[in-house]
Amino acid sequence: MAANPYRAIGHGKPGKIGCRIHHYEEIGSTQDIAQQLALEGAPHGTVVIAESQTAGRGRLGRDWFSPPGVNLHTTIILKPAIAPGAVAVLGLVAGVALAEAVQAIAPGLPGLKWPNDLWLRGKKAGGILAQLLAGAPLCVLLGIGVNVNLTLQQMPEELRDIATSLLVETGEPCDRVQFAAALFEHLDKWIGQTQHSGFGAIAPLWERYSVLTGKQVTVFDGLVRYTGTVKGIDQNGALLLAGGGNVRRVVAGDVTLERIER
Ligand code: BTN
Repeated sequence: MAANPYRAIGHGKPGKIGCRIHHYEEIGSTQDIAQQLALEGAPHGTVVIAESQTAGRGRLGRDWFSPPGVNLHTTIILKPAIAPGAVAVLGLVAGVALAEAVQAIAPGLPGLKWPNDLWLRGKKAGGILAQLLAGAPLCVLLGIGVNVNLTLQQMPEELRDIATSLLVETGEPCDRVQFAAALFEHLDKWIGQTQHSGFGAIAPLWERYSVLTGKQVTVFDGLVRYTGTVKGIDQNGALLLAGGGNVRRVVAGDVTLERIER
């Protein structure tokens, strides 16, 4: 088995994200390995990282393109002291951490598209999948995929108009270990804050990166399509959509922007 390049990140500090790091060259999905580890009692902060995934998955049953050696594919086992009803905000909290990690290397570039996408210049560069594990205590498998050093040539043709990477947008390769370390640090900080005082104080930070606020969008919640102007998010992370004289709270769905500015 090749050496784990991420081994230095957590320094084994209990309770910290990265306290244990399981690194794989190729697996199906980091979500599945993390689930197995969580069921075996792995502690909060345990991280699974794969160089490539043969069955990487995204939200809404989509596939997640996970080629070898260029991107970050990670699942973090979280056992946060929060109410089960607050689990939905963990994806947004992770979005803020991700945007901050990107901001440090590409100032002004990161954007967040509700609920869980990292955008760079109008294209998707990363995504977050928060999966609640049934049973007690509360356990969430937080999957994060980021296109880091992926080139346009390596990208499947059908993704080229809608996806991008840090390398494509900055022209500079990025050290994935340093990037993951920064991401985990920010995540630790914001999860700590969420446990302590909820999402309320983090929501304005999320808004700062929002690519949707003020924009005309269509939201599909799986059953119905709603059109309107995005007003922002509320204290519980719901999208606020103004249209037809009222403001609707959307708690889940897929958002399409009417016009994408690049
Ligand atoms: C999305 O935008 O739809 C969420 C994408 C999440 C992808 C990550 S990659 C690491 C983890 N393992 C998976 O199979 N999916 C998540």
